[in-house]
Amino acid sequence: MSKIGLFYGSETGNTRKVAKSIVKKLGEDVVELFNVSKATADDVAKFSSLILATPTLGDGELVDSWKEFFPTFKGVDLSGKTVAIFGFGDQDAYGHEFCDAMILLYDAAKAQGATIIGGWSTDDYEFSKSKSIVDGEFVGLALDNDNQKDQTEERVDTWLDQIKPELLG
Ligand SMILES: Cc1cc2nc3c(=O)[nH]c(=O)nc-3n(C[C@H](O)[C@H](O)[C@H](O)COP(=O)(O)O)c2cc1C
Repeated sequence: MSKIGLFYGSETGNTRKVAKSIVKKLGEDVVELFNVSKATADDVAKFSSLILATPTLGDGELVDSWKEFFPTFKGVDLSGKTVAIFGFGDQDAYGHEFCDAMILLYDAAKAQGATIIGGWSTDDYEFSKSKSIVDGEFVGLALDNDNQKDQTEERVDTWLDQIKPELLG
């Protein structure tokens, strides 16, 4: 069985593309990919490690598919599980709520008993506010294809190197 379940939602494809690239980078035998529009509670429960991914849409909100899946997700006990989060946002157009939706996944997973890993430095971004900062760091990997597309792949690679040992441990 794969060790990591990657659960994502995406509106215009940025989050989906990175999710798929992570499967390629780590291997299909290591990561199983789920669009949350088709995922179940059992899908979440069967993994010891999870990667959760959403863009921020609306007014600092989760993508619709995650909103719909959220009550189901929140019903899963995550104690003993390790969770990493990544999110897409737009620091220029939405600099007052940059990648805000990551905190919703973080707060939920934490309340469900998970250990959250994969915090990310706020250096090299230009925004005024984000709810997704805890102890001076983003709670997960913040990505921005609207303004910093050329940095996305390198950020993903660096982040994966950082979290891989803990997710696979
Ligand atoms: C209607 C709308 C609202 C958005 N709201 C936010 C926001 O509140 N914060 C943010 O950082 N980005 C916001 N964005 C930017 C998206 O998160 C960004 O374009 C992202 O790459 C989309 O990801 P996806 O292609 O996986 O759907 C918004 C985009 C749209 C179209």
